Amino acid sequence: MDLFEKLLSNQGPLGKHSDVSEGYFMFPKLEGQIAPRMEFMGKEVLTWSLNNYLGLGNHPDVREVDAQAAADWGLAYPMGARMMSGNTSYHEQLEQELADFVSKPAGLLLNYGYQGVLSVIDAVVDRKDVIVYDAECHACIIDGVRLHMGKRFVFPHNDITSLKKQLERAEKLTQETGGGILVITEGVFGMTGNLGAINEIVALKSEHNFRLLVDDAHGFGTMGKTGAGTGEELHCQDGIDIYFSTFAKSMAAIGAFVAGSPEIMKFLKYNMRSQIFAKSLPMPFVIGALKRLDMLRENPSHKNKLWTIVRALQEGLKSKGFDIGTTQSPVTPVVLNGTVGEAAALSKDLRENFGIFCSAVIYPVVPKGMIILRLIPTASHSLDDVAETIAAFEAIKGKLVSGDYKKEEVAIAFGE
Ligand SMILES: Cc1ncc(COP(=O)(O)O)c(C=O)c1O
Repeated sequence: MDLFEKLLSNQGPLGKHSDVSEGYFMFPKLEGQIAPRMEFMGKEVLTWSLNNYLGLGNHPDVREVDAQAAADWGLAYPMGARMMSGNTSYHEQLEQELADFVSKPAGLLLNYGYQGVLSVIDAVVDRKDVIVYDAECHACIIDGVRLHMGKRFVFPHNDITSLKKQLERAEKLTQETGGGILVITEGVFGMTGNLGAINEIVALKSEHNFRLLVDDAHGFGTMGKTGAGTGEELHCQDGIDIYFSTFAKSMAAIGAFVAGSPEIMKFLKYNMRSQIFAKSLPMPFVIGALKRLDMLRENPSHKNKLWTIVRALQEGLKSKGFDIGTTQSPVTPVVLNGTVGEAAALSKDLRENFGIFCSAVIYPVVPKGMIILRLIPTASHSLDDVAETIAAFEAIKGKLVSGDYKKEEVAIAFGE
């Protein structure tokens, strides 16, 4: 069979809806400046889909520094991989400041979060080692684990009893191979908003010998007293051996970093293929990240405002009888029952008639029959935005329960 013919006969779980969803549910264009109110298909919408937690994405001070850095340096400098010709004192300053902020002695800058996590995992384990990871980890961790040539064991989300069993299995194996164990979890799980049981995992170090990698993409800037992340929140930052975060969320930019001991950061610097064989981050990204970090670190009002909105939204939804799962972070899932078609019809209704734009998580990401409307509150939202959204959610829930969405054209087009 022709390879491309085979691909086109099965477009995948998301691609199969492309005819009805492209441009609207998938690959929509949110236009205008990054803000709670943006334009979608020519109409203003109140958006709850941007991970711009601290509202830094369009902050005038940040925009000014970004623009100045672009004017001063352009997008090319420095050229080449950092190891060869692409290193600068700014890159080194940023990684040290990030490390200091998360209370680790050393840091290492990464070009992208997804590639970074993949490549950290690839660099730290070989075929003799065993990876033990949480079942709900992000795709970048799963794909990093897929690269691993040795054994990997998974434990159900935050199930410490199962993790212990997997650690015992891993220990038996590594005693034979002479390898080590890497445990991987997340700080804040991006779909449910609940926290990884990092403190309980760290406590297992007294009985088991392993190293812990934590992806804190959603926790950096949002969790902990100073915003240093979930390890700070759960008082176990010291037990995290490799701390990771992306700049794609609270930092509202692109890039990522890891932090840990100077010896391990040095090892990664010389062994991470995604960094050795790729061009270094251009200056506007590095200077822009320094500015964002400065604002995040020095001005707690951004995080305080974020949490005012988070509490109002989550308590408001709960008081109206909505199921928001087990979130302990700003990520706010609203769990409803319905088909993929109903999810499409209610999302359309929210956008067209209530002017509210949020992401719907549907099968196969969640079980059949479940719809999660995922809201990301930010420091730029207002309490009025929260009230407007809760009122709209009450209205659409009523229509969903009475079966109104089943009859909509878009629901029929999606099937089921
Ligand atoms: C948990 C988690 N890890 C890693 C990433 C990837 O980061 P990036 O967007 O910088 O590639 C994301 C998404 O942005 C994420 O949610």
